[in-house]
Amino acid sequence: MAKLIVGNWKMHKTIAETKEHISLLRPLVFRADAEVWLAVPYTDIYPAVEASIGSRIKIGAQNMSELLGGALTGEVSGVMLQEAGASFVLLGHSERRRLFFEDNRSINRKAKLAERIGLRAIVCIGETLEEREKGLTEEVLMRQIDACLEGVENSFLAYEPVWAIGAKEAADPKIVENIHRFCQNYVAKANGHKEVKILYGGAVNPSNCEGFLAIPSVAGLLVGGASLDVKTFAEIVWSAEGKL
Ligand code: PGA
Repeated sequence: MAKLIVGNWKMHKTIAETKEHISLLRPLVFRADAEVWLAVPYTDIYPAVEASIGSRIKIGAQNMSELLGGALTGEVSGVMLQEAGASFVLLGHSERRRLFFEDNRSINRKAKLAERIGLRAIVCIGETLEEREKGLTEEVLMRQIDACLEGVENSFLAYEPVWAIGAKEAADPKIVENIHRFCQNYVAKANGHKEVKILYGGAVNPSNCEGFLAIPSVAGLLVGGASLDVKTFAEIVWSAEGKL
């Protein structure tokens, strides 16, 4: 499968900015052989979907409720996302874990629900700098995989070392290659999954993306800051040309 490039807009872009951004992006990625997905704020989903009609861009959300409905002020359900046109959802991003106290169990409930209703989940995992420095990276990743993917069948993973998110420097591609291989083997053993797709995320930009895209176990990239500018994001998409 072609590489998957996912832009994570976080809490950026109004509806007007979304429409403008997508109208400029779509001709730039029209011929690209990568998959192009954008995880946008809730209020941008519907206009982003409308602006993407007839293009290769798919729109998704950055979070969803672990329940389908109820008295849950401020929450948005997966079915509502689908109705707005979302085809995927990011789950357990490190900002959700750190700032909104999401834990592995809740992320697991969300991933199972997403699968049940047919929304593709991208479950984010990754160690903090402190955990890395203590030599706990593999242990942390195993714990996250065990808990988040329990009973989950076809969700994707995004390996995002917390220390690389929003940082100046991304992780070393060699480290990423080893970790992706480790996670793939672990998922295959622990959950009986044949092959899980794993994206890399954290400080990806047009100058470092080639290094990651050349790695076969990197199914694609999750791009934060560099996805906000049309041209910069398109350059990352173009770098995926011919890479499998
Ligand atoms: P970044 O963010 O590319 O700005 O480091 C990645 C992410 O948080 O998904």
